[in-house]
Amino acid sequence: MKQFTSVHDIQNVEALIADGIALKNNPYQYKELGAEKTLGLVFFNSSLRTRLSTQKAAHHLGMQVIVLNVGTDGWALELQDGAVMNGASVEHIKDAAAVMGLYCDIIGVRNFPTLRDRDADYAEDLQKQFIQHCKVPFVSLESATLHPLQSLADMMTIAENATKKKPKIVLTWAPHVKPLPQAVPNSFAEWALRCGHDLTITHPGGYDLKESFTKGAIIEHDQDKALKNADFVYVKNWSSYDDYGNTIGGHDDWMVNAEKMALTNNAFAMHCLPVRRNVVMTDAVLDSNRSLVLAQATNRVFAAQIVLQKMLESNF
Ligand code: CP
Repeated sequence: MKQFTSVHDIQNVEALIADGIALKNNPYQYKELGAEKTLGLVFFNSSLRTRLSTQKAAHHLGMQVIVLNVGTDGWALELQDGAVMNGASVEHIKDAAAVMGLYCDIIGVRNFPTLRDRDADYAEDLQKQFIQHCKVPFVSLESATLHPLQSLADMMTIAENATKKKPKIVLTWAPHVKPLPQAVPNSFAEWALRCGHDLTITHPGGYDLKESFTKGAIIEHDQDKALKNADFVYVKNWSSYDDYGNTIGGHDDWMVNAEKMALTNNAFAMHCLPVRRNVVMTDAVLDSNRSLVLAQATNRVFAAQIVLQKMLESNF
C-alpha cells in the first residue's frame, strides 16, 4: 500500500478489517517490521486520538516517530504554484513536503477544511501536493473531506459487535455549538456502503452530504423514524455542504438521548470523539453499557497499525 486517503485505496476492505482486528491478539507480533523506519506525523490542526493512536501503532511496529505541529510550530506554507512569496507564506509546500520525505519513510498529515471555499476544500489540494512532493507512502490523518483511519476503526468496531450479517446502521446528525467538517460522516458513509451495510442517514433539511459519498444509503429526515430497529447509531454533527460550512440553527431536539435510543433495536451508540456531552449526546447514552466510543478509540490504534504494516510490507 502506497497511500491511504480513502476507502478507494483499499482492494479488499473485509480483509483489512479482519487483519486489523487480528492484531489485537498480539500487538507486538511485527515489532521488527518497522526497525530503522521513521514515521512523520504532520498536524495542521489539533488532535488527541489520531496523534496518540498512530504513535502507539508505530511503537508496536518498532518505528521511530517524528511529530511536527505545522499549525503552531511550522512555517506558514504556500500552496499556489508559481506564487511570488512576498506575503505571509514563508515556505512552499513543494519544498517542505520534499524535505519531510527525506527524513521520513512514511508521512501522515492532518489538514482540516477551511469551511469557506467548498471547491478548494473538496479538491484536497494540500493533501495532493504532499503526496506528490514527499515521494514516500502517505497516510491521511483526516483531510478536508475524509477521515479514513477513523472509518476503518469504526468498521472494525461494527464487525466485532454485530450479531447479524447485515445490521441496520443509522448515521444521525446531532446538534453542536459550531460548524464542523463533513469529513467523518462522508468517510463513514462510504466505508459502511463499501462494506455492504444497511445504512440510513438522518439529518434535518439543509444538511445533505455530497451525494458521491452517500449513494446507496437511505436518506430519512425524520430522526425517530430512522432510528426504528437500528442496531448501531453513529452520532455526528456536520455543517452544511450545500450552504457550505454554515449551520441552520435550532434542531437541539436532535441530541441523542435515552428516549431516542429506546426507539432502536437496543442499538449500540457510536461517536468518533471528541464529543460535547449533553449537546450532541447525553451522559446517559455515552456512559451506558451500549456505548462503543471507547471500543472505537481502542480500534484507532489497530486501524493505524494495520495500515502502517501494509505500507511497510509493500517494501517501498
Ligand atoms: N476522532 C479523532 O480523530 O480524534 P482526534 O481529533 O482527537 O484525533
